[in-house]
Amino acid sequence: MDKIVALCKRRGFIFQSSEIYGGLNGFWDYGPLGVELKRNVKEAWWRDMITNHDEFSTPPGAPSAFSMVGLDCSLIMHPQVWKCSGHYDLFHDMMSDCRETKRRFRFDQIRGRWVHVEKDARGIHRYFIMTDADTPEAGLEDTVVKACKFFDVRRKDAEAALTWQSPGLVGITPKDNLAHVVTPGATQPGTMTEPREFNLMFKTTIGALGGAEDAAFLRPETAQGMFVNFKNVLDTQRVRVPFGIAQMGKSFRNEITPRNFTFRSREFEQMEMEFFCHPDQSRAWYQYWRDRRYQWYLSHGLGSDRLRLRDHAADELSHYSVGTADVEYAFPFCEPGEFGELEGVAHRGDFDLRSHMEGKLVRDASGCLAVETGADGKPRHPGSGKDLVYFDDQSRERYVPHVIEPAAGADRATLAFLCESYHEDAQPDEKGALQPRVVLKLHPRLSPIKVAVLPLVKKDGMPELGLELYRNFKRAGIPSYFDQQAAIGKRYRRQDEIGTPWCITVDGQSLQDQTVTLRDRDSLEQVRMPVNRVIDEIAARLRG
Ligand code: GAP
Repeated sequence: MDKIVALCKRRGFIFQSSEIYGGLNGFWDYGPLGVELKRNVKEAWWRDMITNHDEFSTPPGAPSAFSMVGLDCSLIMHPQVWKCSGHYDLFHDMMSDCRETKRRFRFDQIRGRWVHVEKDARGIHRYFIMTDADTPEAGLEDTVVKACKFFDVRRKDAEAALTWQSPGLVGITPKDNLAHVVTPGATQPGTMTEPREFNLMFKTTIGALGGAEDAAFLRPETAQGMFVNFKNVLDTQRVRVPFGIAQMGKSFRNEITPRNFTFRSREFEQMEMEFFCHPDQSRAWYQYWRDRRYQWYLSHGLGSDRLRLRDHAADELSHYSVGTADVEYAFPFCEPGEFGELEGVAHRGDFDLRSHMEGKLVRDASGCLAVETGADGKPRHPGSGKDLVYFDDQSRERYVPHVIEPAAGADRATLAFLCESYHEDAQPDEKGALQPRVVLKLHPRLSPIKVAVLPLVKKDGMPELGLELYRNFKRAGIPSYFDQQAAIGKRYRRQDEIGTPWCITVDGQSLQDQTVTLRDRDSLEQVRMPVNRVIDEIAARLRG
């Protein structure tokens, strides 16, 4: 992972936000190459969802043909949106602070047993935060390794931690534990605060007066824009259920512990789609989107052994969901056997449309969704009161559509493509000596630059012919690069490192017979072809 982070900075893919002021935790800037890579990821998603979608044919595996439309909604929405969606009450993590070191922890990362290790040099009993009480014994070694990493202690020093099963320590409450625990970097035990709720939405104020009633939130997801515009889309577009509304754009979450490069940031981009369908067909549609979204990642180059589709267990489901599957990727920062979420595909039932119609829903004692009421019996968070029921004018049926939601992160997808494509090897230079090579084997459609035009030497008309070709690529809308500095092998390696799939070399023969060589980044194969055919060739390879 360190090598990938270093490459991202060195070659201008991703920089720390506000770096000259020391950076801002959880915020990132995409550099000149990173912005192109992320744009290509988003474009590939939009093309799959919207541009290339044919509403008159049934894709393989889909229950029927369907329409797809796009939206681009505001980042700040009416505060009632977040009350009805459940984010206002429920979108929080539990956190604990260390009063001494001022470090903050997400409680689910540290919750569990505290294990007595030994007196340290200062005579203080040190305790290490371990795992959930019900972690099977088989997971113990793994847990010790993780705890050591988390607390920056040597494995040897944690040997005594294996006494974790000592009867005196089993079953003590977190409250007791907090009194004994020494958090990393602290000198005293018991500096950890009781866990408390922390809402992840960023608050802001609308207008100049700034009273409590002017409070608003930056959107924590793009999804709600699609629900509140459901009727607008129905009324203005010639769409019938089933259809989908897609949107991509920024979302904001005040994450307690942003980490793992861009994986968990406080400002990030989502690519979400809400698919509205008949309740009786919703399970079939859920299956369709679950499988199709997994295939999308495969077809853009994520290897199947590091990518998986995982169905959530019932106790993992969000408050609204009746079924969710995650597309996950084994990022280099994941522990062995662990994966990070790229996308969640959720069956949301009619929760969202009903909430925006009737008021915030909760599950009642029988497990059914019902409007949550206050002490006065009125809805605690009233809905819009607008009729969001769908009327099918062919079957004459009225119903609230069910929703299937594939929700992806553009930054996480971009990071996964970067990680998957990173390779190191060695290639012979002009003199036959092996030179180490870093190569990003990105899918050509994702590569920031598609083709580099390289005159073999800076004389004899080669630069002129190369520049003309470079300009023709630009005119054809194919991102290209012209480079005449340094030995040709070095220039190839520069392009390999940023994932450029093809290099074109203009050499002495080019001036005589109007041919150039086309080099492939992955196979390293070089073919000679007429210069007037090379743009069509690259365009065809990109389409293919
Ligand atoms: N509308 C449903 C929803 O927002 P989510 O699982 O919370 O679901 C969807 O988010 C996707 O957004 C995630 O799978 C992930 O790719 C991305 N995402 C969520 N939080 C993120 C964060 N803090 N940093 C980067 N990406 C994030």
